[in-house]
Amino acid sequence: MATLDEKVVLITGTGGGMGRVAAQIFAREGARVVGADIHAPANEETVGLVRGAGGEMTGIAPVDLTDPHQVERLVEDAVAAYGGLDVVYNNAASLRFGRMPDFSVEDWRATVTGELDIPFLVSKYAWPHLVRRGGGVILNVASMAGMIAGHNPPMVGHTAANAGVIGMTRQLALEGAPHGIRSVAISPGPVLTPASARDLGDDRAARDAITAKTLLKRFAEPEEIVELAAFLASDRAAYITGANYAVDGGASAW
Ligand SMILES: NC(=O)c1ccc[n+]([C@@H]2O[C@H](COP(=O)([O-])OP(=O)(O)OC[C@H]3O[C@@H](n4cnc5c(N)ncnc54)[C@H](O)[C@@H]3O)[C@@H](O)[C@H]2O)c1
Repeated sequence: MATLDEKVVLITGTGGGMGRVAAQIFAREGARVVGADIHAPANEETVGLVRGAGGEMTGIAPVDLTDPHQVERLVEDAVAAYGGLDVVYNNAASLRFGRMPDFSVEDWRATVTGELDIPFLVSKYAWPHLVRRGGGVILNVASMAGMIAGHNPPMVGHTAANAGVIGMTRQLALEGAPHGIRSVAISPGPVLTPASARDLGDDRAARDAITAKTLLKRFAEPEEIVELAAFLASDRAAYITGANYAVDGGASAW
């Protein structure tokens, strides 16, 4: 039996990066995946990859996860796709970087909306379905930036929003426990995804500084984050809730 057999998993941001890899790994582990993204063609590509490998996935796109109405509808459609919901994998985020005091109010709001509103909204609308199911798992992808400050790139909105995600994870664990809902955060360090490629471009100095901060002296591959997520979503992690797991090559250890 695979780790996630029979589980229905809603993964956000499956159009690329870690979300695409999550759809592939969760499907490989036997989950029925519902994947949502704002970019429909990219999301369809992921559906094709998952199904091509023999996995089960329904794509729902385009969905703007910052819009409460669209999220509410997404969750209803996700529940309808396979007759319920067991796991919510809050992976999607959008953010801006910038140095104080140039980081505008608009930059701040866009980052908090893109990083904190999204997991809140998806969790909020999924909550009654998880309760009805007798329990489930909410996985929140935060960041090591939620635990330590960072120079590269300057990240006041990113640090604040991800500290918020880690705090929200603890609160959801507390309120969810009586319903059988576990809530767990994963805080990646630097990962090779379209987002890090876009944010860092060919800034060699920034890349070298980020690499130097890790103990392992490299970026992670998306699989190195998602394999932990698959374990945490499974019943093998039944005693884990309210915790935050750094997967950062040791960057937050010193
Ligand atoms: N890449 C890193 O180095 C790194 C480090 C720490 C944490 N993280 C976190 O990991 C998660 C995944 O990151 P990634 O690097 O794979 O990102 P990514 O930008 O490569 O992929 C994110 C996906 O989410 C989708 N998305 C963004 N905003 C959306 C919206 N409003 N509605 C619907 N879909 C939306 C995008 O279209 C994209 O497909 C994010 O929460 C990110 O903050 C990433």
